[in-house]
Amino acid sequence: MSLSTFPEGFLWGAATASYQIEGAANEDGRGSSVWDTFSHTPGKVAHGETGDVACDHYHRYAEDVALMSEIGLPNYRFSISWTRLFPQGQGARNQKGFDFYNRLIDELLRQGIEPCVTLFHWDYPQALEDLGGWTNPDARKWFGDYAEACFEAFGDRCKRWITLNEPWCHAYLGNATGVHAPGNKDLATCWKVGHGLLLGHGEAVRRFRALGQSGEIGLTTNHQWGIPLTDSEIDRKATDQYNAFSAGWFLDPVYHGDYPEYLKRTFDMPSFTAEESALVQEKTDFMGLNFYEGSFIQWSDTAFVNASTYKDPTMETTQMGWLSLPETLKQTLVLSQKVYTPPKIYITENGAAYDDVLENGRVHDQKRMSFLRDYIRAAREAISLGVNLRGYFVWSLLDNFEWAEGYRPTFGIVHVDYATQARTPKDSAWMMGEVARANGLDYAGATKV
Ligand code: NOJ
Repeated sequence: MSLSTFPEGFLWGAATASYQIEGAANEDGRGSSVWDTFSHTPGKVAHGETGDVACDHYHRYAEDVALMSEIGLPNYRFSISWTRLFPQGQGARNQKGFDFYNRLIDELLRQGIEPCVTLFHWDYPQALEDLGGWTNPDARKWFGDYAEACFEAFGDRCKRWITLNEPWCHAYLGNATGVHAPGNKDLATCWKVGHGLLLGHGEAVRRFRALGQSGEIGLTTNHQWGIPLTDSEIDRKATDQYNAFSAGWFLDPVYHGDYPEYLKRTFDMPSFTAEESALVQEKTDFMGLNFYEGSFIQWSDTAFVNASTYKDPTMETTQMGWLSLPETLKQTLVLSQKVYTPPKIYITENGAAYDDVLENGRVHDQKRMSFLRDYIRAAREAISLGVNLRGYFVWSLLDNFEWAEGYRPTFGIVHVDYATQARTPKDSAWMMGEVARANGLDYAGATKV
Protein backbone atom coordinates (compact mmCIF):
# COMPACT_ATOMS: atom_id res chain seq x y z
CA MET A 1 0.00 0.00 0.00
CA SER A 2 1.48 3.34 -1.02
CA LEU A 3 1.77 6.10 1.52
CA SER A 4 -1.20 7.92 0.04
CA THR A 5 -3.51 4.94 -0.24
CA PHE A 6 -5.83 4.08 2.63
CA PRO A 7 -6.71 0.63 3.98
CA GLU A 8 -9.32 -1.34 2.09
CA GLY A 9 -12.86 -0.59 3.19
CA PHE A 10 -11.95 2.88 4.43
CA LEU A 11 -15.08 5.05 4.64
CA TRP A 12 -15.14 8.35 2.75
CA GLY A 13 -18.07 10.65 3.25
CA ALA A 14 -19.51 14.03 4.13
CA ALA A 15 -21.30 15.17 7.27
CA THR A 16 -24.14 17.52 8.23
CA ALA A 17 -26.46 18.11 11.20
CA SER A 18 -30.22 18.55 11.37
CA TYR A 19 -30.56 22.09 12.72
CA GLN A 20 -27.79 23.35 10.46
CA ILE A 21 -29.38 22.26 7.18
CA GLU A 22 -32.97 21.07 7.45
CA GLY A 23 -35.01 24.24 7.88
CA ALA A 24 -38.78 23.54 7.93
CA ALA A 25 -38.56 24.40 11.60
CA ASN A 26 -42.29 24.76 12.02
CA GLU A 27 -43.49 22.14 9.59
CA ASP A 28 -45.11 18.75 9.91
CA GLY A 29 -45.36 18.85 13.67
CA ARG A 30 -41.71 19.45 14.59
CA GLY A 31 -41.34 20.66 18.19
CA SER A 32 -39.03 23.41 19.38
CA SER A 33 -35.42 22.78 20.34
CA VAL A 34 -33.09 24.88 22.46
CA TRP A 35 -31.51 26.13 19.24
CA ASP A 36 -34.87 27.47 18.01
CA THR A 37 -35.28 29.37 21.25
CA PHE A 38 -31.69 30.58 21.29
CA SER A 39 -31.51 31.71 17.67
CA HIS A 40 -34.77 33.62 18.08
CA THR A 41 -33.41 35.44 21.11
CA PRO A 42 -32.03 38.80 19.95
CA GLY A 43 -28.26 39.13 20.20
CA LYS A 44 -27.46 35.42 20.38
CA VAL A 45 -26.66 34.63 16.75
CA ALA A 46 -24.80 36.87 14.29
CA HIS A 47 -27.20 39.03 12.28
CA GLY A 48 -30.15 37.50 14.12
CA GLU A 49 -29.98 34.47 11.83
CA THR A 50 -31.87 31.26 12.60
CA GLY A 51 -32.18 27.73 11.28
CA ASP A 52 -35.81 28.28 10.28
CA VAL A 53 -35.06 27.77 6.60
CA ALA A 54 -31.32 26.95 6.50
CA CYS A 55 -30.59 24.88 3.37
CA ASP A 56 -34.20 23.74 3.13
CA HIS A 57 -32.85 20.21 3.13
CA TYR A 58 -36.14 18.94 4.57
CA HIS A 59 -37.68 19.58 1.16
CA ARG A 60 -34.57 19.19 -0.97
CA TYR A 61 -33.11 16.05 0.53
CA ALA A 62 -33.51 14.07 -2.71
CA GLU A 63 -31.58 16.69 -4.66
CA ASP A 64 -28.86 16.67 -1.98
CA VAL A 65 -28.58 12.90 -2.05
CA ALA A 66 -28.37 12.97 -5.85
CA LEU A 67 -25.55 15.49 -5.53
CA MET A 68 -23.63 13.24 -3.15
CA SER A 69 -23.99 10.43 -5.62
CA GLU A 70 -22.81 12.64 -8.50
CA ILE A 71 -19.81 13.80 -6.47
CA GLY A 72 -19.09 10.20 -5.58
CA LEU A 73 -19.19 10.16 -1.78
CA PRO A 74 -20.31 6.73 -0.58
CA ASN A 75 -21.05 7.62 3.07
CA TYR A 76 -23.22 10.30 4.61
CA ARG A 77 -23.31 11.33 8.25
CA PHE A 78 -26.43 13.25 9.29
CA SER A 79 -28.23 13.86 12.56
CA ILE A 80 -31.81 13.28 13.58
CA SER A 81 -33.84 16.15 14.93
CA TRP A 82 -35.21 14.70 18.19
CA THR A 83 -38.19 17.07 18.15
CA ARG A 84 -39.27 15.99 14.69
CA LEU A 85 -39.83 12.53 16.11
CA PHE A 86 -40.99 13.57 19.58
CA PRO A 87 -42.08 17.22 19.59
CA GLN A 88 -42.00 17.32 23.41
CA GLY A 89 -38.87 15.17 23.61
CA GLN A 90 -40.83 12.31 25.19
CA GLY A 91 -44.32 10.88 24.93
CA ALA A 92 -46.33 11.49 21.75
CA ARG A 93 -44.67 10.44 18.50
CA ASN A 94 -44.86 12.56 15.37
CA GLN A 95 -45.20 10.13 12.50
CA LYS A 96 -44.35 12.78 9.90
CA GLY A 97 -40.91 13.12 11.46
CA PHE A 98 -40.30 9.39 11.16
CA ASP A 99 -41.57 9.53 7.57
CA PHE A 100 -39.00 12.18 6.68
CA TYR A 101 -36.02 10.17 7.93
CA ASN A 102 -37.41 7.03 6.29
CA ARG A 103 -37.56 8.88 2.97
CA LEU A 104 -34.03 10.23 3.43
CA ILE A 105 -32.56 6.85 4.40
CA ASP A 106 -34.33 5.05 1.57
CA GLU A 107 -33.09 7.61 -0.93
CA LEU A 108 -29.52 7.29 0.36
CA LEU A 109 -29.60 3.53 0.04
CA ARG A 110 -31.20 3.75 -3.41
CA GLN A 111 -28.22 5.85 -4.48
CA GLY A 112 -25.76 3.46 -2.88
CA ILE A 113 -24.83 5.79 -0.02
CA GLU A 114 -24.40 4.38 3.44
CA PRO A 115 -25.98 6.33 6.30
CA CYS A 116 -24.17 7.16 9.53
CA VAL A 117 -26.65 8.56 12.02
CA THR A 118 -25.97 10.98 14.88
CA LEU A 119 -28.68 10.84 17.52
CA PHE A 120 -27.87 14.13 19.22
CA HIS A 121 -26.23 17.08 17.52
CA TRP A 122 -27.18 19.82 20.02
CA ASP A 123 -30.85 20.51 19.10
CA TYR A 124 -32.16 19.39 22.48
CA PRO A 125 -35.95 19.44 22.97
CA GLN A 126 -37.01 22.73 24.57
CA ALA A 127 -39.76 20.97 26.53
CA LEU A 128 -37.14 18.78 28.22
CA GLU A 129 -34.81 21.71 28.77
CA ASP A 130 -37.67 23.36 30.65
CA LEU A 131 -37.58 20.37 33.00
CA GLY A 132 -33.87 20.84 33.68
CA GLY A 133 -32.56 19.17 30.53
CA TRP A 134 -29.48 17.00 30.91
CA THR A 135 -29.29 17.81 34.62
CA ASN A 136 -32.65 16.13 35.31
CA PRO A 137 -32.19 12.60 36.73
CA ASP A 138 -34.63 11.36 34.08
CA ALA A 139 -32.54 12.78 31.22
CA ARG A 140 -30.79 9.48 30.73
CA LYS A 141 -34.11 7.66 30.30
CA TRP A 142 -35.47 10.33 27.95
CA PHE A 143 -32.44 9.99 25.69
CA GLY A 144 -32.49 6.21 25.95
CA ASP A 145 -36.16 6.07 24.94
CA TYR A 146 -35.55 8.37 21.99
CA ALA A 147 -32.48 6.40 20.93
CA GLU A 148 -34.40 3.14 21.16
CA ALA A 149 -37.20 4.54 19.00
CA CYS A 150 -34.58 5.47 16.39
CA PHE A 151 -32.94 2.04 16.48
CA GLU A 152 -36.34 0.38 16.09
CA ALA A 153 -37.48 2.64 13.28
CA PHE A 154 -34.27 2.94 11.26
CA GLY A 155 -31.95 0.21 12.53
CA ASP A 156 -32.96 -2.21 9.79
CA ARG A 157 -31.22 0.08 7.28
CA CYS A 158 -28.80 2.19 9.35
CA LYS A 159 -25.82 0.29 10.69
CA ARG A 160 -23.57 3.04 11.99
CA TRP A 161 -24.68 5.17 14.94
CA ILE A 162 -23.17 8.05 16.88
CA THR A 163 -24.78 8.74 20.24
CA LEU A 164 -23.68 12.34 20.82
CA ASN A 165 -21.84 14.90 18.77
CA GLU A 166 -19.24 16.96 20.62
CA PRO A 167 -20.73 16.86 24.14
CA TRP A 168 -17.87 19.18 25.17
CA CYS A 169 -19.37 21.98 23.08
CA HIS A 170 -22.93 21.41 24.19
CA ALA A 171 -21.92 21.31 27.85
CA TYR A 172 -19.28 24.03 27.90
CA LEU A 173 -20.29 26.47 25.18
CA GLY A 174 -23.96 25.95 25.96
CA ASN A 175 -23.75 26.20 29.74
CA ALA A 176 -20.49 27.80 30.89
CA THR A 177 -19.70 30.49 28.33
CA GLY A 178 -23.28 30.60 27.07
CA VAL A 179 -22.36 31.29 23.46
CA HIS A 180 -24.35 28.26 22.35
CA ALA A 181 -27.87 27.14 23.26
CA PRO A 182 -29.28 26.96 25.83
CA GLY A 183 -27.06 29.90 26.79
CA ASN A 184 -26.43 29.30 30.49
CA LYS A 185 -23.38 30.88 32.05
CA ASP A 186 -22.72 28.71 35.04
CA LEU A 187 -19.77 26.40 35.43
CA ALA A 188 -21.52 24.10 37.93
CA THR A 189 -24.35 23.58 35.44
CA CYS A 190 -21.83 22.86 32.72
CA TRP A 191 -20.28 19.95 34.64
CA LYS A 192 -23.72 18.57 35.48
CA VAL A 193 -24.81 18.77 31.85
CA GLY A 194 -21.61 16.99 30.85
CA HIS A 195 -22.42 14.27 33.38
CA GLY A 196 -25.97 13.92 32.06
CA LEU A 197 -24.66 13.68 28.50
CA LEU A 198 -22.26 10.90 29.48
CA LEU A 199 -25.04 8.93 31.18
CA GLY A 200 -27.26 9.46 28.14
CA HIS A 201 -24.50 8.16 25.91
CA GLY A 202 -24.07 5.03 28.04
CA GLU A 203 -27.82 4.46 28.16
CA ALA A 204 -28.09 4.66 24.36
CA VAL A 205 -25.26 2.17 23.90
CA ARG A 206 -26.88 -0.17 26.42
CA ARG A 207 -30.24 0.01 24.62
CA PHE A 208 -28.50 -0.65 21.29
CA ARG A 209 -26.97 -3.84 22.69
CA ALA A 210 -30.15 -4.89 24.49
CA LEU A 211 -32.12 -4.67 21.24
CA GLY A 212 -29.52 -6.86 19.59
CA GLN A 213 -28.97 -4.28 16.87
CA SER A 214 -26.52 -5.19 14.17
CA GLY A 215 -23.96 -2.57 13.23
CA GLU A 216 -21.83 -0.31 15.35
CA ILE A 217 -22.16 2.56 17.78
CA GLY A 218 -19.79 5.14 19.24
CA LEU A 219 -19.35 8.64 20.59
CA THR A 220 -18.00 11.63 18.68
CA THR A 221 -15.87 14.13 20.57
CA ASN A 222 -13.90 17.18 19.49
CA HIS A 223 -10.84 16.42 21.54
CA GLN A 224 -7.33 17.42 20.74
CA TRP A 225 -3.94 17.27 22.33
CA GLY A 226 -2.54 20.77 22.70
CA ILE A 227 0.99 21.89 22.03
CA PRO A 228 2.91 23.68 24.80
CA LEU A 229 3.65 27.19 23.57
CA THR A 230 7.16 26.94 24.95
CA ASP A 231 9.17 24.07 26.29
CA SER A 232 8.99 25.47 29.80
CA GLU A 233 7.83 23.20 32.57
CA ILE A 234 4.94 25.49 33.37
CA ASP A 235 3.65 25.50 29.80
CA ARG A 236 3.93 21.74 29.68
CA LYS A 237 1.95 21.51 32.90
CA ALA A 238 -0.65 23.87 31.42
CA THR A 239 -0.86 21.59 28.39
CA ASP A 240 -1.48 18.52 30.54
CA GLN A 241 -4.35 20.35 32.18
CA TYR A 242 -5.72 21.48 28.85
CA ASN A 243 -5.59 17.90 27.57
CA ALA A 244 -7.52 16.67 30.59
CA PHE A 245 -10.18 19.28 29.84
CA SER A 246 -10.23 18.73 26.07
CA ALA A 247 -9.94 14.94 25.83
CA GLY A 248 -10.20 13.57 29.36
CA TRP A 249 -13.47 15.18 30.43
CA PHE A 250 -15.50 12.87 28.19
CA LEU A 251 -13.07 10.19 27.08
CA ASP A 252 -11.66 9.21 30.47
CA PRO A 253 -15.14 8.24 31.74
CA VAL A 254 -16.02 6.39 28.54
CA TYR A 255 -12.77 4.42 28.41
CA HIS A 256 -11.65 4.39 32.06
CA GLY A 257 -14.81 5.03 34.08
CA ASP A 258 -14.00 8.33 35.81
CA TYR A 259 -13.02 11.96 35.27
CA PRO A 260 -9.32 12.94 35.12
CA GLU A 261 -7.73 13.67 38.50
CA TYR A 262 -6.97 17.25 37.49
CA LEU A 263 -10.65 18.01 36.82
CA LYS A 264 -11.77 16.32 40.05
CA ARG A 265 -9.17 18.23 42.04
CA THR A 266 -9.88 21.60 40.52
CA PHE A 267 -13.59 21.74 39.79
CA ASP A 268 -16.81 20.73 41.39
CA MET A 269 -17.20 17.61 39.24
CA PRO A 270 -20.17 15.32 39.85
CA SER A 271 -19.05 11.87 40.92
CA PHE A 272 -19.94 8.59 39.29
CA THR A 273 -21.67 5.89 41.28
CA ALA A 274 -20.37 2.40 40.51
CA GLU A 275 -23.47 1.77 38.41
CA GLU A 276 -22.98 5.00 36.45
CA SER A 277 -19.33 4.29 35.90
CA ALA A 278 -20.22 0.91 34.41
CA LEU A 279 -22.92 2.52 32.29
CA VAL A 280 -20.67 5.14 30.70
CA GLN A 281 -18.09 2.43 29.99
CA GLU A 282 -20.55 0.37 27.91
CA LYS A 283 -18.29 -0.84 25.14
CA THR A 284 -18.33 1.26 21.99
CA ASP A 285 -17.30 0.06 18.55
CA PHE A 286 -15.38 3.14 17.46
CA MET A 287 -14.14 6.51 18.58
CA GLY A 288 -15.48 9.42 16.51
CA LEU A 289 -13.15 12.40 16.25
CA ASN A 290 -14.09 15.86 14.98
CA PHE A 291 -10.94 17.78 14.28
CA TYR A 292 -10.43 21.33 13.05
CA GLU A 293 -7.58 23.21 14.64
CA GLY A 294 -4.38 22.93 16.57
CA SER A 295 -3.93 24.75 19.86
CA PHE A 296 -0.89 26.16 21.56
CA ILE A 297 -1.23 26.19 25.30
CA GLN A 298 0.47 28.39 27.83
CA TRP A 299 0.32 29.03 31.55
CA SER A 300 -1.31 32.22 32.70
CA ASP A 301 -1.38 33.14 36.38
CA THR A 302 -3.30 30.17 37.74
CA ALA A 303 -4.38 28.00 34.85
CA PHE A 304 -3.90 27.04 31.26
CA VAL A 305 -4.89 29.40 28.50
CA ASN A 306 -5.99 28.10 25.18
CA ALA A 307 -3.88 28.94 22.27
CA SER A 308 -6.59 30.70 20.41
CA THR A 309 -5.16 33.67 22.27
CA TYR A 310 -1.86 32.99 20.56
CA LYS A 311 -1.59 34.56 17.17
CA ASP A 312 1.46 34.40 15.03
CA PRO A 313 0.60 36.47 11.97
CA THR A 314 2.64 34.20 9.76
CA MET A 315 0.47 31.20 10.63
CA GLU A 316 -2.36 30.20 8.36
CA THR A 317 -5.85 30.51 9.84
CA THR A 318 -9.28 29.73 8.42
CA GLN A 319 -12.36 31.97 8.21
CA MET A 320 -13.07 31.01 11.82
CA GLY A 321 -9.63 32.26 12.87
CA TRP A 322 -8.57 28.68 13.62
CA LEU A 323 -4.97 27.64 13.20
CA SER A 324 -4.40 25.11 10.47
CA LEU A 325 -1.89 22.61 11.84
CA PRO A 326 -2.30 19.20 10.18
CA GLU A 327 0.48 17.74 12.33
CA THR A 328 -1.81 18.15 15.34
CA LEU A 329 -4.35 15.81 13.78
CA LYS A 330 -1.66 13.16 13.48
CA GLN A 331 -0.62 13.73 17.07
CA THR A 332 -4.19 13.57 18.34
CA LEU A 333 -4.88 10.35 16.44
CA VAL A 334 -1.71 8.70 17.70
CA LEU A 335 -2.34 9.71 21.31
CA SER A 336 -6.04 8.78 21.15
CA GLN A 337 -5.08 5.30 20.01
CA LYS A 338 -2.40 4.98 22.66
CA VAL A 339 -4.27 6.41 25.64
CA TYR A 340 -7.75 4.99 25.00
CA THR A 341 -7.08 2.00 22.68
CA PRO A 342 -10.41 2.25 20.83
CA PRO A 343 -11.11 -0.66 18.46
CA LYS A 344 -11.06 1.86 15.62
CA ILE A 345 -11.32 5.57 14.97
CA TYR A 346 -13.37 7.51 12.45
CA ILE A 347 -12.71 11.15 11.70
CA THR A 348 -16.37 12.12 11.79
CA GLU A 349 -15.66 15.75 10.87
CA ASN A 350 -12.75 17.66 9.40
CA GLY A 351 -12.87 20.68 7.17
CA ALA A 352 -12.44 24.41 6.93
CA ALA A 353 -14.40 27.59 6.34
CA TYR A 354 -12.95 29.99 3.80
CA ASP A 355 -14.30 33.00 1.94
CA ASP A 356 -15.46 31.34 -1.25
CA VAL A 357 -16.16 33.11 -4.50
CA LEU A 358 -18.81 31.79 -6.85
CA GLU A 359 -17.87 32.82 -10.38
CA ASN A 360 -19.35 31.54 -13.61
CA GLY A 361 -20.91 28.61 -11.83
CA ARG A 362 -17.65 27.48 -10.22
CA VAL A 363 -16.02 27.85 -6.83
CA HIS A 364 -12.25 27.40 -7.06
CA ASP A 365 -11.66 26.78 -3.39
CA GLN A 366 -7.94 26.08 -3.57
CA LYS A 367 -7.36 26.80 0.10
CA ARG A 368 -9.95 24.27 1.22
CA MET A 369 -8.49 21.71 -1.19
CA SER A 370 -5.00 22.16 0.24
CA PHE A 371 -6.39 22.06 3.76
CA LEU A 372 -8.20 18.79 3.12
CA ARG A 373 -5.23 17.23 1.36
CA ASP A 374 -2.89 18.22 4.19
CA TYR A 375 -5.18 16.75 6.84
CA ILE A 376 -5.86 13.61 4.85
CA ARG A 377 -2.12 13.16 4.45
CA ALA A 378 -1.65 13.63 8.20
CA ALA A 379 -4.38 11.06 8.81
CA ARG A 380 -2.61 8.61 6.52
CA GLU A 381 0.65 9.16 8.38
CA ALA A 382 -1.14 8.35 11.62
CA ILE A 383 -2.22 5.03 10.10
CA SER A 384 1.43 4.28 9.29
CA LEU A 385 2.17 4.90 12.96
CA GLY A 386 -0.29 2.23 14.00
CA VAL A 387 -3.59 4.12 14.35
CA ASN A 388 -6.59 2.05 13.31
CA LEU A 389 -8.30 4.87 11.44
CA ARG A 390 -11.14 3.55 9.29
CA GLY A 391 -13.02 6.55 7.93
CA TYR A 392 -13.01 10.24 7.10
CA PHE A 393 -16.06 12.51 6.80
CA VAL A 394 -15.58 16.01 5.49
CA TRP A 395 -17.46 18.82 7.21
CA SER A 396 -19.62 19.72 5.53
CA LEU A 397 -21.59 18.56 2.56
CA LEU A 398 -23.29 21.96 2.32
CA ASP A 399 -22.60 25.51 3.44
CA ASN A 400 -24.92 25.81 6.42
CA PHE A 401 -25.98 27.48 9.67
CA GLU A 402 -22.76 27.74 11.69
CA TRP A 403 -24.48 28.10 15.07
CA ALA A 404 -23.74 31.43 16.82
CA GLU A 405 -21.81 32.59 13.75
CA GLY A 406 -24.86 32.34 11.51
CA TYR A 407 -24.43 31.78 7.79
CA ARG A 408 -21.21 33.69 7.12
CA PRO A 409 -18.64 30.92 7.71
CA THR A 410 -18.84 28.59 4.75
CA PHE A 411 -17.64 25.07 5.47
CA GLY A 412 -19.41 23.29 2.61
CA ILE A 413 -17.85 21.44 -0.27
CA VAL A 414 -21.09 22.48 -1.94
CA HIS A 415 -21.94 26.17 -2.15
CA VAL A 416 -25.48 27.17 -1.20
CA ASP A 417 -27.09 30.35 -2.48
CA TYR A 418 -29.58 31.00 0.32
CA ALA A 419 -31.72 33.33 -1.82
CA THR A 420 -32.43 30.66 -4.43
CA GLN A 421 -31.28 27.53 -2.56
CA ALA A 422 -29.18 26.67 -5.62
CA ARG A 423 -26.42 24.17 -4.88
CA THR A 424 -23.04 24.42 -6.65
CA PRO A 425 -20.37 21.82 -5.91
CA LYS A 426 -17.05 23.55 -5.22
CA ASP A 427 -13.83 22.20 -6.70
CA SER A 428 -13.18 20.55 -3.32
CA ALA A 429 -16.33 18.47 -3.77
CA TRP A 430 -15.03 16.96 -7.00
CA MET A 431 -11.67 16.47 -5.34
CA MET A 432 -13.28 14.56 -2.45
CA GLY A 433 -15.08 12.38 -4.98
CA GLU A 434 -11.74 11.57 -6.59
CA VAL A 435 -10.16 10.87 -3.23
CA ALA A 436 -12.99 8.47 -2.42
CA ARG A 437 -12.65 6.69 -5.78
CA ALA A 438 -8.86 6.43 -5.47
CA ASN A 439 -9.15 5.55 -1.77
CA GLY A 440 -6.57 8.18 -1.02
CA LEU A 441 -4.50 10.94 -2.49
CA ASP A 442 -3.19 9.04 -5.52
CA TYR A 443 -5.81 10.39 -7.90
CA ALA A 444 -5.33 11.95 -11.29
CA GLY A 445 -4.88 15.68 -10.85
CA ALA A 446 -3.61 15.24 -7.33
CA THR A 447 -0.69 17.48 -8.04
CA LYS A 448 -2.80 20.42 -9.22
CA VAL A 449 -3.32 21.87 -5.75
C1 NOJ B 1 -18.32 20.81 14.81
C2 NOJ B 1 -19.80 20.70 14.89
O1 NOJ B 1 -20.16 19.36 15.09
C3 NOJ B 1 -20.50 21.26 13.68
O2 NOJ B 1 -21.85 21.34 13.98
C4 NOJ B 1 -19.89 22.59 13.32
O3 NOJ B 1 -20.58 23.22 12.29
C5 NOJ B 1 -18.45 22.38 12.94
N1 NOJ B 1 -17.76 21.88 14.10
C6 NOJ B 1 -17.72 23.64 12.47
O4 NOJ B 1 -17.61 24.53 13.50
